[in-house]
Amino acid sequence: MYIYQKSASNYFADMTNSLDERLVTLEEFIIQAQNRFPGATGELSQLLRDIGLASKIISREVNKAGITNILGNDGTTNIHGEAVKRLDLFADEQLISALERSQITCMVISEENDGIVRLRSQGGKYIVYLDPLDGSSNIDVNVSIGSIFSIYMREPRYEPTVKEEDALQPGVRQVAAGYVLYGSSTTLAYTTGLGVSLFTLDPSIGEYILTKRKITIPTKGTIYSINEGSYNSWDLGLKKYIKYCQEEHAETKRPYSARYIGSMVADIHRTLIKGGIFIYPHSKRYPKGKLRLMYECNPLSFIIEQAGGKATNGERRIMEIEPLAIHERTPIYIGSPENVDRVMEFLYEYQEQAV
Ligand code: AHG
Ligand code: MN
Ligand code: MN
Repeated sequence: MYIYQKSASNYFADMTNSLDERLVTLEEFIIQAQNRFPGATGELSQLLRDIGLASKIISREVNKAGITNILGNDGTTNIHGEAVKRLDLFADEQLISALERSQITCMVISEENDGIVRLRSQGGKYIVYLDPLDGSSNIDVNVSIGSIFSIYMREPRYEPTVKEEDALQPGVRQVAAGYVLYGSSTTLAYTTGLGVSLFTLDPSIGEYILTKRKITIPTKGTIYSINEGSYNSWDLGLKKYIKYCQEEHAETKRPYSARYIGSMVADIHRTLIKGGIFIYPHSKRYPKGKLRLMYECNPLSFIIEQAGGKATNGERRIMEIEPLAIHERTPIYIGSPENVDRVMEFLYEYQEQAV
């Protein structure tokens, strides 16, 4: 018999309880966390506050997107050949200029920029990866989208300007990562390696309010999340696993539920709270998977692992992959630990067999 760590209703009861206590803003929380480290310079705190501020501006634009002529393609394509939405560019500009202002970041790598973006402060300690707007195909239909960030320290190389290779660090070296989900409310989640904290934007006061200090993912969930339209090009092990999800399960007497939003941030946020698994595998169309290692998979893996979950590319832990390129892609299997272990068993069992 499986024990579910925390049901969704308990989670929201917890949120309500914490809201009854004195409200803690993101700013206060970051300062409190910094004060626990006597040697901290405050720079990482500043960086997190910069991202928080930029995300509030993005959230405001997302919420009025339908009335400001900001919807739709801007007529160009990004380096991945995808149509660029105006909000993608707006979010990119807001985040980069927030990071530029505080002069502690030397380089940004963003989905919307082909090469690295060197900032004015070349002595800055931090390197930041961004997916400024994730799930942008959902903008026009008013479905949740998000922003993702991943922060590394620059290795001391004693060279005056940063190079792309400085940014090619495995996910285990992230010093912080997080996401902002522009959904029915705007939610910010981040980790510095000491658990995951969750904040909700109160639009009436323009502040992120702490809603959960250390969120944990259920050890097992009953939701699977994958774009099933690509079924015919999956490996046999994955096909068998999804069929297993669709069988009646002894503990619930029903199959798992399928949920797929098409915005990774939104799908991962649901997975974090309710448990289950999110999969974006390799396929004929995307032989290396679709999702980007450095600004989608690594930061969201850091969050999920810090909440007690797992993330793998089918062979190894996502965060241990040594990156070869800033925009590289990877397959991903991420979520509750028991669900990830189970899919790995299927992949292993059928690995030698043809599709
Ligand atoms: P982005 O909008 O940043 O390009 O990311 C879209 C990604 C991700 O958010 C989502 O999980 C995935 O694309 C959906 O892809 P499919 O439409 O192929 O399922
Ligand atoms: Mn994305
Ligand atoms: Mn994007």
